[in-house]
Amino acid sequence: MLRPVGLTHGHYECRSLDETLPIFKELLALELVNRHNGEAVLKHPNTDWLLVVHEGGPNARNKPHNNHYGFRVAHHEEIERAYSYIDAQKDKYRIKSVTKPHEAHFAYSIYFKEPGGNDLEIEYYNPNAVQHGRRIAATPWKQLMAEDRFPGRGYVPQAMSHGTLQCDNKEASDRFYKEVLGLDIVGGGRHSTYIKHPSTPWYIVVLPMPHRDYLAPVNRFTLKLGSPEEVEKAHHAFSQQSNPYGITETWDVERNNGQTSFIFSDLDKNWWELTASNQ
Ligand SMILES: [Fe+2]
Repeated sequence: MLRPVGLTHGHYECRSLDETLPIFKELLALELVNRHNGEAVLKHPNTDWLLVVHEGGPNARNKPHNNHYGFRVAHHEEIERAYSYIDAQKDKYRIKSVTKPHEAHFAYSIYFKEPGGNDLEIEYYNPNAVQHGRRIAATPWKQLMAEDRFPGRGYVPQAMSHGTLQCDNKEASDRFYKEVLGLDIVGGGRHSTYIKHPSTPWYIVVLPMPHRDYLAPVNRFTLKLGSPEEVEKAHHAFSQQSNPYGITETWDVERNNGQTSFIFSDLDKNWWELTASNQ
């Protein structure tokens, strides 16, 4: 139904920007695009996906592990070095824990808990896994970032590769992503689905979970549509009382800063935003 021109933003809630931004900048190689009114936009030099970080204050809840973002390095041995470096810097960044490097299905990764209530991942993915049908293993950067852009850590996050969501029923959610949101299903199996926009490498891993911990709207993904009319049309369709798409909540359309947009909650009570530029 929708024909998005891009999956353009991830929105992420932390507790304190002063506490969480150094983690993104100094441990994950993101750059600050702008910051105002308790909101910061971050970008990895190799990834056009923007991460909007919202300051939720000290009472912002912990997000489930399966709502993490992942950052990819180019070499297997960088994961062990990332583990050593981040584990040694835990106190400085108020990181609660770092998991030991874990090998699974072509991937090798560590996770750590940042003080804003989120898990973050650094992963290596063997690009040869593409030959085994794993499309998401394809190298997501055009050019490697040189180590002098991120010196002294022993690892270089080369891209922001993925976000993560939970769902209730995999078949129903897969249909929704494909037929309603207009995204591609690029992998997964019985226990997961990988979705992405056809024109960009970053993806969202969706995992069916029996006991869900629902997210707040501030943790959402943004899809860009081709025109404000398409946003209005989607809003009309999604706000019908008994819409056939299973939409659980639709917020009003907003027109701000040259954008027409609205926020909605999908069949799994996950949050999305549709937006379009006004000209
Ligand atoms: Fe992940």
